[in-house]
Amino acid sequence: MRLTAISAALALVAGVASAETVAPADVVFGEYGEVAQSLSGQPGDAERGRDVFATKSKGNCVSCHAVAQLADVPFHGEVGPELSWTGDSRTIEEVRGIVANAKMTFEGSVMPAFYKTSGFIRPGDAYTGKAPKGELAPLLSAQDIEDVVAFLMTLKES
Ligand code: HEC
Repeated sequence: MRLTAISAALALVAGVASAETVAPADVVFGEYGEVAQSLSGQPGDAERGRDVFATKSKGNCVSCHAVAQLADVPFHGEVGPELSWTGDSRTIEEVRGIVANAKMTFEGSVMPAFYKTSGFIRPGDAYTGKAPKGELAPLLSAQDIEDVVAFLMTLKES
């Protein structure tokens, strides 16, 4: 009896948690590519987001964007604009939309869509016929994106 009550409570918690995460296919973009709703249902952690931004195996955003506030991180790229003032010049909704899928804001952008799992040409199909089946994982998780967005919103001139 008690066990049943506990597992029912756990199922409820799990259900709530997964309902809050927006799946890549369900992201709602506004007219200018902005995204109003948190993808994870949780606030972002700017400290973790700094890591996502600077780490090669995560967002590796620094390979294309310079950020003055990351003076300890070597080799900032110049493919994209410097982001040292993003917190002054962009809203959180705009930044979330750009990171989720930059092509919704900048048509034909070379910036990768970090929260997208469909509409790609399957790597490997033409050569081996062994392309992965089913959905590919997005480049970043919903929480990684919220974290990197929170980090970008801290980047201000003063
Ligand atoms: C392959 C290079 C590349 C990578 C990697 C990349 N970006 Fe970009 N990004 C661009 C380019 C280029 C633009 C300019 C928009 C355009 O014209 O395509 C841009 C634009 C932006 C902008 C808008 C700047 C503004 O205010 O106009 C933000 C914010 C941004 N990127 C964040 C990120 C974050 C966060 C990551 C990592 C998760 C990232 N970018 C990874 C190339 C890149």
